[in-house]
Amino acid sequence: MDPLLLIPGPSPVVPRILAALGRPTVSHVGGGMVEDTRQALDHLKRIVFTRDGQPFLMAGAGTLAMEVALLNLARPGERILILSQGYFGDRMGEICRAYELEHDLVQSPWGAVTAPADLARRLAERPYGLVVSTHVDTGSGGCAPVREYAEAARAAGALFVLDGVCATGGIEERMDDWGIDVILTAAQKCFGAPPGLAIDVFSPAAMSRRKSLHGIKAYYADVLRWLPVMTDPGRYFSTPSVNEHRAFAEATRIIMEEGMDNRFRRQARLGRAARAGLAALGFELFTGADCLADTLSVVRYPAGLDDASFRTSYARHGVQVAGGLAATAGRVFRMGHMGNLTDAQLEFAFEALEAVLTEFGRGVETGMSLRAVRAALDEPAAGSEA
Ligand SMILES: Cc1ncc(COP(=O)(O)O)c(C=O)c1O
Repeated sequence: MDPLLLIPGPSPVVPRILAALGRPTVSHVGGGMVEDTRQALDHLKRIVFTRDGQPFLMAGAGTLAMEVALLNLARPGERILILSQGYFGDRMGEICRAYELEHDLVQSPWGAVTAPADLARRLAERPYGLVVSTHVDTGSGGCAPVREYAEAARAAGALFVLDGVCATGGIEERMDDWGIDVILTAAQKCFGAPPGLAIDVFSPAAMSRRKSLHGIKAYYADVLRWLPVMTDPGRYFSTPSVNEHRAFAEATRIIMEEGMDNRFRRQARLGRAARAGLAALGFELFTGADCLADTLSVVRYPAGLDDASFRTSYARHGVQVAGGLAATAGRVFRMGHMGNLTDAQLEFAFEALEAVLTEFGRGVETGMSLRAVRAALDEPAAGSEA
């Protein structure tokens, strides 16, 4: 039996979505596919709270969605300001370097985020065409104050690009109200769908920017080539991943049935409960208390607990977590708690964690973290701590 997937994406895929994925492959311009794609696009707009934003679905992954955002908005001679709080913020810088896009990379220490006032100060120092931020960085676990960032960008006349790969569909992102110009994301995290889709939603201002650019350094990643297909999914540009589209459409139906406020509340509750369980076992979080994310926890290893043996043992007990990225490798483990994860699955994860720690002779009283997790899950729904 495969272990419970508690890495920070992909997240566990529920049977209803797997069933949609496993349906026979149909024509990519035919009835069922066209209807599924239309629904998925409409649901996406509601998930990011936009009325006139334009969503795009492309076969690919989050990294393609990052390239789509940058290549379709970067204007020659203009600078891009990237706020990075970890691994994927840094990747934005790598993509800019790969395409020789002029940029400044502001790196906060992993576990912290850039203060909105610092952003405003930098924007006052020189003009930028784009401001780019990661909502939740999956390397550091840092959750950025994106509403404030969007406000500062707008005040400086810059477009605002948000990487929501580890947040969209789980943590609130209000595109129209907050003035976000592009939300980029992927299917395999808070949506709870299998990996395989690059997702971008462009505001009308972002679409105007693209149209003002004429040619760009992209073919497949050029949103103007996909626009006719997104407007009428019965049209063709490149063959979409049919089964993935159908699975993703089902994932968005599940989100619509739950309702966005319920989904955000449930996500916040999962985050609180996971942190309560970890604290009860004496674990220290790597991420600063002022920027915790509800979708994952980045946890420091106590002295003497070896990364590889710990994760191997945890997997043997039925739960897969991830190791640290870059400089945090071997020093932390990362536990994802997002998407359609259930209370019972989270409780199972802590039962297993207690068994692992007992195996390593870490003096755990059976049930101590489970009580903390249950108490947090039973707490009346409140606004998120993060
Ligand atoms: C915040 C963030 N951005 C971008 C990516 C890249 O997505 P992908 O691995 O789907 O290419 C990830 C992947 O974990 C991520 O967490």
